[in-house]
Amino acid sequence: MLRGNKVGLRARYEEDIPVLRTELYDDVVNGARAEGRPWRPITPGSKDPRLVVDDNDQGSVPFSVVELDGGTLIGTANLWGIDNHNRTAHIGLGLLPSARGKRYGTDVVAALCHYGFVVRGMRRLQIETLADNHAMLRSAERNGFVREGVLRSSAWVLGEFMDEVLLGLLVEDWKRQPGA
Ligand SMILES: CC(C)(COP(=O)(O)OP(=O)(O)OC[C@H]1O[C@@H](n2cnc3c(N)ncnc32)[C@H](O)[C@@H]1OP(=O)(O)O)[C@@H](O)C(=O)NCCC(=O)NCCS
Repeated sequence: MLRGNKVGLRARYEEDIPVLRTELYDDVVNGARAEGRPWRPITPGSKDPRLVVDDNDQGSVPFSVVELDGGTLIGTANLWGIDNHNRTAHIGLGLLPSARGKRYGTDVVAALCHYGFVVRGMRRLQIETLADNHAMLRSAERNGFVREGVLRSSAWVLGEFMDEVLLGLLVEDWKRQPGA
């Protein structure tokens, strides 16, 4: 398990899947904002590629996020788009609604940076998020990510086009931070 200050990133367990599907993807607003595809209902028990792990997929590493104190499941985290030639990857995360606003997101980003830079030897990590996702922007910036650009009107979200912000962090900048 990867350990942050308050959260752990562990393997996905079978029993996590119905909880994550219900809490993160059944709700149309949460689901539509979490991914760049239209929301659609998922049949319980079907192999939802957002949650079912494919161990043959070398480009993506999915984690379940738990509270270190007690082990309660609180969300998902992912290192994805892993490019071992250019040594770049993207990070993504989603917390259950009841777990948001407790600084867990900031801690998850820190754990993903450790995994990306130290365990996987990446040079650059990247995040794309909706421009109004202040909690995500702040969680990233608290870990040293910088805003590199705005992807204007790049996301169709529930009836309107929204901008996305692209943030990046290089390993040398990450290493200069206290606690990295
Ligand atoms: C985005 C997300 C991961 C952030 O995690 P979180 O645990 O809720 O965020 P934190 O508690 O670590 O807060 C991070 C910072 O954002 C700030 N923040 C939180 N909610 C905010 C809001 N609505 N507006 C402005 N700032 C906010 C916090 O005050 C904190 O800043 P600080 O450390 O300077 O005080 C989480 O809210 C989530 O899962 N949201 C839904 C899914 C999602 O949007 N995923 C990201 C897709 S790219």
